Formats: sequence, structure tokens, C-alpha cells
Amino acid sequence: MKPHTFLLSAIALILALSAVSCSKTSQSDAEMNACIDSIMAKMTLDEKLGQLNLPAAGDIVTGKASQSNIGRLIAEGKAGGVFNVKGVEKIKELQRIAVEESRLGIPLIFGMDVIHGYETVFPIPLALSCSWDTAAIRRSARIAATEASACGICWTFSPMVDICRDPRWGRMAEGSGEDPFLGAAIARVMVEGYQGDGLKKNDEIMACVKHFALYGAAEAGRDYNTVDMSRQRMFNDYFAPYKAGADAGAGSFMTSFNLVDGIPATANRWLVTDVLRGMWNFDGFVVTDYASIAEMRQHGIGDLKVSSAMALAAGTDMDMVADGFSGTLAQSLEEGNIDMGQIDTAVRRVLEAKYKLGLFADPYKYIDAKREQTEVYTEANRTEARRIATETFVLLKNEGNILPLRKGGRIAVVGPLADTRANMPGTWSVAAVPEKYKTVVEGIRDAVGPRGTVTYAKGSNLYADPALEAAVTVFGRQMRDPRSEEALRAEAVALARSCDVVIAAMGEASESSGEAASRTDISLPDTQKKLLEALLATGKPVVMLNFSGRANVMTWESAQVPAILNVWFGGSEAADAIADVVFGDVSPSGKLTITMPRSVGQIPIYYSQLNTGRPKNNDAQFEKYLSGYIDSPNSPLYPFGYGLSYTTFSYSDFALSAHDMKSGDTVTASVRVTNTGSREADEIVQLYIRDIEASTSRPLKELKGFRRIHLKPGENATVEFPVTVDLLKHYNYELEYVAEPGEFSIMIGPDSRTLRSATITLH
Ligand code: BGC
Repeated sequence: MKPHTFLLSAIALILALSAVSCSKTSQSDAEMNACIDSIMAKMTLDEKLGQLNLPAAGDIVTGKASQSNIGRLIAEGKAGGVFNVKGVEKIKELQRIAVEESRLGIPLIFGMDVIHGYETVFPIPLALSCSWDTAAIRRSARIAATEASACGICWTFSPMVDICRDPRWGRMAEGSGEDPFLGAAIARVMVEGYQGDGLKKNDEIMACVKHFALYGAAEAGRDYNTVDMSRQRMFNDYFAPYKAGADAGAGSFMTSFNLVDGIPATANRWLVTDVLRGMWNFDGFVVTDYASIAEMRQHGIGDLKVSSAMALAAGTDMDMVADGFSGTLAQSLEEGNIDMGQIDTAVRRVLEAKYKLGLFADPYKYIDAKREQTEVYTEANRTEARRIATETFVLLKNEGNILPLRKGGRIAVVGPLADTRANMPGTWSVAAVPEKYKTVVEGIRDAVGPRGTVTYAKGSNLYADPALEAAVTVFGRQMRDPRSEEALRAEAVALARSCDVVIAAMGEASESSGEAASRTDISLPDTQKKLLEALLATGKPVVMLNFSGRANVMTWESAQVPAILNVWFGGSEAADAIADVVFGDVSPSGKLTITMPRSVGQIPIYYSQLNTGRPKNNDAQFEKYLSGYIDSPNSPLYPFGYGLSYTTFSYSDFALSAHDMKSGDTVTASVRVTNTGSREADEIVQLYIRDIEASTSRPLKELKGFRRIHLKPGENATVEFPVTVDLLKHYNYELEYVAEPGEFSIMIGPDSRTLRSATITLH
């Protein structure tokens, strides 16, 4: 070490240690402020801007940290954190550079897209939402936090809470579906699951609610596209999950790529400051999405300097990848376009996050090579992932009770998704280790054991067109078979003929959904449909497993195939979970959290629609001058909340404890649910409300409660929902959250289509 380098390091250490108030783990505001004041007093402008800079991992992913560009940046105090670096050794080295080599020794924050698990991968978020099991979802986030933190990660870019009503958008896979009430409930438990008991322990990590806001409403379902909607719709239909994340104490928020009211979210002051911080009292920090500031040039807002100043002024604190804050804010300051107070506010928020994470007290709090060995992909975590995966599958059809299958006989497993390991975890599984996961064939084979034979033929590629297939099998997920589609099909048909039953694993590949994976045609690709047709023509019973990251158009399949189980992407343990359900060890219980359309032409389609002035009388028929289509009913193929079981449930004794209520009252809505079939199973009971007359038009129904119950054959339970005045509220034209006097209809049932109702009058 050169003498002057040594001297600098020594000074850095002394300075770091001199910040005595920072060594405490206490979370009192006074101590935190004292700590941050003492650090900020020493910071140069460059060092302040460094804290606002979140560069990509870049060359560190493959190279040695100290020799990487990012290593140099950190040593110069020009990075506040790093993201998507996997492995505790690499992270430790980066933290060492920050603490020992940068002048002030400020620790880094390490982020990652831990979206639905780490090495133990849970089902994709859309699937998780179909479990409606908030306790299990909380546990999934807790486990994800434990595993990620065991590998040095202290900040996850999750939960993704964007409401989406357009299944062309590939990122529907990453969210909780179309409904704000359910979405808010899930946002809340995910934040709680990640952050645990307030970030005190070393397995509790900071959540980042994203993408703020409205990213799921991109026009035409095309990723990154324009969003334009009324503020009333934002507040009533899209904002609840973000607000729930803030209310749950999320430490950070990420802005979205899209425009909100014509201004990119990242630089939208109304959104970031007035709504998020002002109305919702969010006190964490706001990071941009990947290079969002740089993209403002394309949006026609201005160059990097203009965009960066505008983003900071809007209340955005940290710049992911664009180098806009670190590269241009000094000049903007000099030119008087921003002031030092704005920079200081952002720096303070970033430092507060580090303080709350306990990084000043111990920069290595999350760095423990032993934990990486013992706490990741454990038996216990895998068991939980397998169990929750079984809850996420949605049984769409089961004609003649083909399912569950018997563990025996000759079973043919076919289809492009039947024998691919890499496609099991689903999109955004950054830390996944596919080599460790089973394929569908392996899961089925292990379940059947010596009792029967399980044979496999691929049957078709994903798409006949190799270019389309290449687009959805990126990141090492290739699975192309060079044989012709005819040859593949012939082989599978011959196999099917020699077997008793066919399991067809079909649908989308992992990267058919997720970021930049929009589709205009969301039905099964032709070559897979031809395979299905040929399999059906053998006369053998066919069970279709639909792999999917969105709502698909399955009108043809639903008419032709006797049994369809929507398995989404079930995570690292999906293969065993699929076997659990296919063979009836567990009865399916998932219910759709998105509406399944009959055709792309019905999109956007969602259950909580407003009425028109000309509603149809008969959905099955075209009626001139009424609101409908010449060539299609308005109703979807499968409604929101729908899903079958291996048993049957009856609903009876629906009652309200009162039919009038005034402010402060609670009315109880109840229903008796009986398991009328022969298997024990879970049922998800749903409560919907309609505000029949209001100062603005209100939806025909909105989810306002749900319960997941377990019933043995013959058993019944009375499910009660408290209907409070709060549940009757909405945002009016002035954006006030109000319950307006008048009639409300209260509805309960097994899905959004099959409901019994009664009315309440609010006085
Ligand atoms: C995505 C975010 C993600 C970020 C960092 C972006 O492209 O939109 O959801 O958190 O990358 O990986």
C-alpha cells in the first residue's frame, strides 16, 4: 500500500469511528438524526451525490470487486448502493471497499430483485395472489428475506403492486392481479414479511414498493407505454396497494417508467411528494426504476441534466443507473436550478434507510458466510414453497372428474413445458438455481413411483417459429427441439396411444411474461394447439397443465379439453406441488385474481366494471343499441374469483345482521358454507359490495372481504364478514374518501359471478 493511500485509509477509519452516535443500534429519531447530522457535516457535494447514485452491478458480476469499475466508484464514495450481486463473498468485498477505502466509510445498501423467493422460489406473484392466503404470502416473503439476507442482501425491489387489467402486459405475472382490495391486503403482508420486526434482525430486509405508479395500465398492454387515467380512477382502482405498502411501513418506493398525467412518474411532483409523502405520510426514500431519468429524454422532457433536476425536485431520492444525479446535479446546483436543501433532503433519506437497517452500527450485519451455507434452500423452506404452490393452482375445468388421477397405470407426460428445469421458477427469479429443481416429468414420476409407468415425449416446440420461441426463452432458458413439429407430434401421439392417460404440460415459457414480454395473441400457440388436438383425437383422457404468467385466452381449450389446471409458474418446488394436486393429495383451491377473457378483443376486461347507460338484458345475444359486441358476449370465459375444487361446496343461510346502518355501525354479513362432496378441501369465500347510487358512478361490484376456510366432507362453517362504514367508502370527485348515504348491495359467493345479495341503507 502506498504511504498516502495508507494515510487516507487511516483518516477514513478515524472519521468513520468518530461518528460515535452512529455505532448504536437504537432506532430513536434523535440518535438517528445526530448520527446523520454528524456524517452530513463532513460530506462534500460529490460524496452527497454519491449516496444518491445506484449503479448496476456491471463487471462485478463476473470479476473481482476490487479491480472492477464499480469497486473504484465505491472507493471514491460515488455509490450509495449496488444491486443484483449474488453471493456473500462479493458483497462483503464491496462493503469492505466502502467502509475501509472510501473517505467517510459510509456503508453500502445492497438491493436485489427478490420478487418471489430467493433460491427457494415461490410461485410468481400473480399465482401467489390466486391463493388468497395472506398468511402464507407473508411467510413466503419472510422466507425470501431470510434467504436473501443470508447472502448479503438487505433491500428487495418488491413487492410489485401494480394493478393490471390487461393480460397482454407481460408484467401482469409480477403483481397480484386486477383488484385493489386484494392487492392492498397482499402488499401489506409482503412488506411485513420482508421487514419483519422493523429491520432489527439480520434476516429482516427493506421492502421497495413498486412501480409507483400505474405501471400496470400501459396502453394496449405494451410495456413502458403511456398511461392516462382520471385521478378518481387512480385513487379508487389503482392506488390502494401502494398506499397499503406505505401504511405497512415500507422503507422505500420505486417510481415507474410511465407517464402519470403527462409527466414521467420519476419527475412527477404531485405523485411523489403530494400523494406519497403528503397524503400517505411515507417517510422512506424513493428510488427510480432502471435508468428512468435518462429515459425522460425519449419522453420529450429534456436532457439528462434537466430530467435529473426535475426528478430531484419532484422528491425522488436515488437514481438507478442513469448517472443523472451523480453526473449533472452539481451543475444544476451551480446554475441555480436546484438548491442544496433538495440534495440534503434526498441524502438524508438514503442515510436514514441505512441507519434503520443498522448498517452504521454494523456494516456487515447482513454478511455472514455461515448463514449463506445453512439458511438457503433448506428443507423447511422448500416444504413451505411446495405447500403454498399447491394453493395457487386454479382448476378451470374438470369434466367427469378426470382429476385427480390415480398413482398408477401408464401415464404419458407430453408438451414443451414437461421437461424443462429452467422454465419452472418463472420470470424474475434472479437468484434461482434451476439445476436444483425438478421438471414436471420428474415430479410426476417421483409421485407415482413403482406403482405405474411415466413416459415422456415433447410433442411440440413452444412455437413453430424459432424466432418467436427464442424471444421467450432468453437468459439460458432455451429448449428448442430441432425436429420438425410433425415428427414431434407423431412421437407424442404414439406414446399417448400406448398409455391410459395424458398429462399435457403446455402454455407459456418463463420469459413469455415478465418485463418486456407483451403479447397481442395470448392464446396457446398453434403448434401446441395442434398437439392438443391430436392428443384428444386418440380418445385418451387428457389433462392440460397450463403454464402461464398472465390470463390466457383459452376458449378453444375450455370447449375441447376435459380437464385444465392452471399452474402458472409455481417456483422451485412446482413439480412436486403439481403432482400433489394432480394425484389428489391436495385438492386445488386457487381462485383467479384476474378475469380470463374469451378473446383479446374484450380487453381491458375486469369484474369491477361500471355500468353503462345501456346494459344488455341478455349477455348471450346481440342486442342493437345496447352495450355489447356483435360477435361475443360481454362476460368473460372465467370470472374473477373463479376456481374449482375436487369437492363441492354449497352456500346457504345468507344473512345480514341489520339492513340499516349509520356512521360507526358495523353490520355482519354471514353465510353458511358446506362441503357437499367427498374430499376435504379449502374454499375461498368472497364478499362484494355495490354502492347503488352515489355522486359518481360506482362499479357493479367490488371485492371487500375474503376468507379461506378448510372443510372436511359434510362439514359446514358460518363465515362472517363485518361490514363497516369504511368498507362503503370511495374517493369522490374531489378525491375525498367518503361513504355517501343511500343503498348498498352486499353480496357473498364463491366467485364474482355467483353471488347472493341483500341491501343495506346507510343513513
Ligand atoms: C424493472 C424493475 C427492477 C429493476 C432492477 C427494471 O427493469 O422494471 O422492476 O426492480 O429493473 O432490476
